[in-house]
Amino acid sequence: EAAQKQGFDWFMRKEIFEQPKAVADTLLGRLNERGELVLDELRMSPELLRRVNKIVIVACGTAFYAGLVAKYAIEHWTRIPCEVELASEFRYRDPIIDPMTLVVTISQSGETADTLMAIRHAREQQAKVIAICNTNGATIPRESDAVIYTHAGPEIGVASTKGFTTQLVACYLLGLYLAQVRGMKYGDEIAALLAELERMPAALQQLLDERQGVLELAEQLKDATSVLFLGRHVGYPVALEGALKLKELAYIHAEGFAAGELKHGPIALVSQDLPIFVVVPPRGRDQLRDKVISNIAEVRARGAKTIVLGDADDDQARAHAEVFIPLPKVSTLVQPLLAILPLQLFACELATLKGHDVDQPRNLAKSVTVE
Ligand code: G6P
Repeated sequence: EAAQKQGFDWFMRKEIFEQPKAVADTLLGRLNERGELVLDELRMSPELLRRVNKIVIVACGTAFYAGLVAKYAIEHWTRIPCEVELASEFRYRDPIIDPMTLVVTISQSGETADTLMAIRHAREQQAKVIAICNTNGATIPRESDAVIYTHAGPEIGVASTKGFTTQLVACYLLGLYLAQVRGMKYGDEIAALLAELERMPAALQQLLDERQGVLELAEQLKDATSVLFLGRHVGYPVALEGALKLKELAYIHAEGFAAGELKHGPIALVSQDLPIFVVVPPRGRDQLRDKVISNIAEVRARGAKTIVLGDADDDQARAHAEVFIPLPKVSTLVQPLLAILPLQLFACELATLKGHDVDQPRNLAKSVTVE
């Protein structure tokens, strides 16, 4: 086992460090010589994909949060209405799906029972199902109409890391492919977006190289009893996933909120004892960014310790932060790919400092094969 961990203390930490390669592998060979996105493995006809009038993304846990990010990207690029639903809720509420509905399931293991049952229900209603999955030949891709594999390599740590970032990439690819076949996006736009995705492995590596601040932060916050995560737009699912990682690994109460909801309740929780992570949208989304920055000011005025993740050159966000975690330059929709990495590392480090088993957190299973 020590050999398999390649010098890392945990599989999880090793998998966090594998993300530059994992993301590069998800992207490998996706562009043809005409600058078009190719998703041959999908084996679903463009005619069929042109007829789709609704997308429903179904997943559990971390994969569900990847789905929340996907909704923003897919709706923006394709203008197809897209819902995201927890797999465990899906079939029990009699969802409205028909042969024009495209169901997209996301599952690292490909064996999650809740997700599998949702697929069976969707196919009974004649919906088409695409699985985004990391495990070749698993039950979920076998029972789906088509599959996009994430090619992240085996993920052993129970808490998903490279599983999540590669799911995001696969979702972006699917969104862009749908936009391409439906004539919403053309060669040069697709190529520009893919070029940005191609820069992400290096950006992830930069975040890994600059990890020291995050490790120190874990040391500082190791006695926290509750932590909040705030984000807006695609930063909201990042906040949810950051909180989930901390719950799973450090057994600390943590919650993710949409920053705009702060005033509708969560602000009552804010006190001096509460560290708050805030994901600030990149520049260019200035309306949104200004609002998030004023949220930081609000919680700081109430004594909270603010840990802010934002564009490296965002001096305004930096000025409002007690601790600033700089992110390499990226566009809004792609930011989750980068913003999550420091939060994964933070949870891994904090759990390590607390003496927990990071790879096998209590009460959790890597793949939950019962409903
Ligand atoms: C379990 C794992 C989570 C994972 C979820 C969904 O609860 O502990 O880390 O996100 O299942 O797993 P899947 O394999 O379907 O992505």
